[in-house]
Amino acid sequence: MISSQHPSLGSQRPFEASVDLASPNRNLAPLSSALDCEGRLQVGGCTLSELARTYGTPLYVLDEATLRASCRAYREALRRHYPGPSLALYASKANSSLAITALVAEEGLGLDAVSAGELLTALGGGMPAERIVLHGNNKSAEELALAAAHGVTVVLDNWRDIELLTQLAPSLSEPVRLMLRFTPGIECHTHEYIRTGHLDSKFGFDPDQLEQVLRQLAGCGWGRLSGLHAHIGSQIFEIQPHRDLAGVMADALGLARSLGHPVTDLNVGGGLGIRYVASDDPPSIDAWVAAVAGAVAEACQERGLELPRLLCEPGRSLVATAGVTLYEIGSRKQIPGIRTYLSVDGGMSDNPRPITYQSQYTALLADRPEAEASETVTVAGKHCESGDVLLRDAALPPATSGDILAVLATGAYNASMGSNYNRIPRPAAVLVHDGQADLVQRREQPDELLRYDVLPARLTPVP
Ligand code: LLP
Repeated sequence: MISSQHPSLGSQRPFEASVDLASPNRNLAPLSSALDCEGRLQVGGCTLSELARTYGTPLYVLDEATLRASCRAYREALRRHYPGPSLALYASKANSSLAITALVAEEGLGLDAVSAGELLTALGGGMPAERIVLHGNNKSAEELALAAAHGVTVVLDNWRDIELLTQLAPSLSEPVRLMLRFTPGIECHTHEYIRTGHLDSKFGFDPDQLEQVLRQLAGCGWGRLSGLHAHIGSQIFEIQPHRDLAGVMADALGLARSLGHPVTDLNVGGGLGIRYVASDDPPSIDAWVAAVAGAVAEACQERGLELPRLLCEPGRSLVATAGVTLYEIGSRKQIPGIRTYLSVDGGMSDNPRPITYQSQYTALLADRPEAEASETVTVAGKHCESGDVLLRDAALPPATSGDILAVLATGAYNASMGSNYNRIPRPAAVLVHDGQADLVQRREQPDELLRYDVLPARLTPVP
């Protein structure tokens, strides 16, 4: 069953059992996907249309087995391919919740947070503070104080971080553990909005300023620089840019140590892509880790540097494939000779990726996953926006109102980038495992959306 090749790559088969059990990011559907005795699609032993009936739609379904398998794949690959200590940190921006944090913490990973909200979620989900790093290109004084108070590592991104921490210094009980992020000047092929490693990026210190900032930090009493960080982008299928990064980072490591910083951690960021549609062919987690770990070890050996602890920060490749979003199909609009629209009860508020990045997805009818996909339809959301389209020209079996549509690989950057556009409540989320479904995010109710509105007294209607 485990194979490094996709036997059905590029085919139009509607439902495909997992083709690479060792690397979830190379599959379209969660690892536990199967058909029940009536031929309906199951994930985690739960029939999807029954979940839709019980919890309503849209519904985020998260497969625990896939999430755990992804964590283990990173952990074991690091152990196998890197001769020194290592730790994978989950980039929680991909999908931040107490339940995901708890699972990831239990699997022994650490976590990357970028705001007070993600940090509080991590701490609330039981992630040990010493395994958390706080990123951000514009951290507030409050966010920095929160991180420092809990012993979370702060990733210095710019001079402002240093200025704010210097101001906080008198209130700190012990030195803050620091990492330094710099822009490595590496280009990669992905959507321009999710590239970060090129020089024209808002993230991290410019490489030309590295020496200056390292010299300044050498004299500061309030922090201890323990690591260096760089991240080149996201949804990347190429391996070479990650190898190139190793050399750039090893140079920076040599510089930092020569200036007296006892830097032990090298954090190479995330970025490994996943399979959204049949033609996507990302590297496996093992292949990615092998390349990164090998390049870091080699670059350090070449420069005579003692091996650092290797950190990486996968987000998408840890959670995307674990997620499936369920929608109920509603209206159909047939424009002869032009297009057929099928509208669903969610859209850009629960999945803003198609409208933001023209991302493509794969969808199935939850109760007829093996039926012939004989129709070409465009699946539209329910928002007042013509661009609110989840799938353009998707091949589906003939579908009618009430059918449940399952959109695959929606576990990363969907819920976390969701909104309340058109005052549409956010969906519920359930975690499925061995035939059991647990609610992990309660569905918002329309009246709850008014909670933060304030109507000034002078505008209050007179009865
Ligand atoms: N580390 C840092 C510092 C990052 O900025 C990111 C992603 C990651 C790790 C995780 O990268 P991943 O393994 O997930 O590729 N909203 C976009 C993706 C933005 C990624 C932002 N940073 C999308 O939906 O495609």
